[in-house]
Amino acid sequence: MSQEVKLSIDTMIVSETDAKGNIIFANSDFCDIAGYTIEELIGKPHNIVRHKDMPKAAFEDLWKTVKDGKIWNGIVKNKTKNGGYYWVNATAYPSKNEKGELRYISVRIKPTDKEIEDAINLYKTLK
Ligand SMILES: Cc1cc2nc3c(=O)[nH]c(=O)nc-3n(C[C@H](O)[C@H](O)[C@H](O)COP(=O)(O)O)c2cc1C
Repeated sequence: MSQEVKLSIDTMIVSETDAKGNIIFANSDFCDIAGYTIEELIGKPHNIVRHKDMPKAAFEDLWKTVKDGKIWNGIVKNKTKNGGYYWVNATAYPSKNEKGELRYISVRIKPTDKEIEDAINLYKTLK
């Protein structure tokens, strides 16, 4: 049941959120890998893809970093709609739309096997 979906080398999963972390844009790779239609994603909190194996501390660090105006990078395990999961090398950063409103953008690519292995070991030690 908990099937891994592996990204291709040319997969690029992109999403944009409002200041609260609600999804306002997701590209087709996001929809294809996570298994949602675009309509199911828009307006939803980004924790819609949160996997239970991810420690809280990782997202606390993400939010602290982007709220501080900086770029966050990390290895993230996300869940798919049908109960599977996929690993990503994620970069998230703050931005502003044309009205000057705060937005957050995340771009995700295929992690290496070593990055996944290191993340599994690290996340075992975190809460
Ligand atoms: C731009 C951006 C992208 C995010 N991408 C993800 C993601 O892919 N997976 C995820 O679980 N959380 C992601 N988050 C963090 C979620 O907003 C949320 O903090 C996290 O899923 C933990 O859920 P919780 O805050 O309800 O505990 C992202 C946040 C931002 C600002």
